[in-house]
Amino acid sequence: MAKFITFEGVDGAGKSTHLNWFADTLRARGIDLLVTREPGGTPLGEKLREILLHEPMHAETEALLMFAARREHLAQVIKPALERGTWVISDRFTDASFAYQGGGRGVVVEKLEQLERWVQEDLQPDLTLLFDIPVEVARERLTKNVALTNVALDKFEQEKSDFFNKVRNAYLARAQKNPARFAIIHAEKSPGEVKASLEKIVTSV
Ligand code: TMP
Repeated sequence: MAKFITFEGVDGAGKSTHLNWFADTLRARGIDLLVTREPGGTPLGEKLREILLHEPMHAETEALLMFAARREHLAQVIKPALERGTWVISDRFTDASFAYQGGGRGVVVEKLEQLERWVQEDLQPDLTLLFDIPVEVARERLTKNVALTNVALDKFEQEKSDFFNKVRNAYLARAQKNPARFAIIHAEKSPGEVKASLEKIVTSV
């Protein structure tokens, strides 16, 4: 059966680089898979992403728009792929809403749980790789990246360490609640060490 795998972590944890390697490794095994992201993944979702990453808004509006983009993503991309036997790897999914809108912004968790049930019904990722990293290390990486690429920080990346500590803790709480689904990657380690943990995971999926 096709699997649904998600990558999560605070901004600057380095998940996106490793995601591409992980996807290529599965493809080399002959697995048919698509890589997508949230917010985004559909034409409408990408428009919502632009708004979400740049416009100031109420925390609950932010949560609702994240789930609206997700509803479209599930309908247009994720569910059809899984049904035809294509694996899906998503750069972020619902755990990010619990971490950023719930932990970071303080949206009531029960409200997010209602949205989760509404939008996903019983669909959950088969595996979630959480790139966990001390917030100061992630901040340093983000700052270096800005210096290298000259790409300005988005609305979330501009948040303070306190926000990211809350995001990190909410991710860890979510992992603790769902230990069978989560694999925690210690992302502050060297790229070689991170890759070694990923190699173990990729051979077991
Ligand atoms: P990215 O930089 O990993 O592409 O993610 C975009 C930003 O969106 C990131 O800062 C986390 C944020 N986000 C949320 O706040 N809630 C969500 O549900 C998702 C999917 C992302």
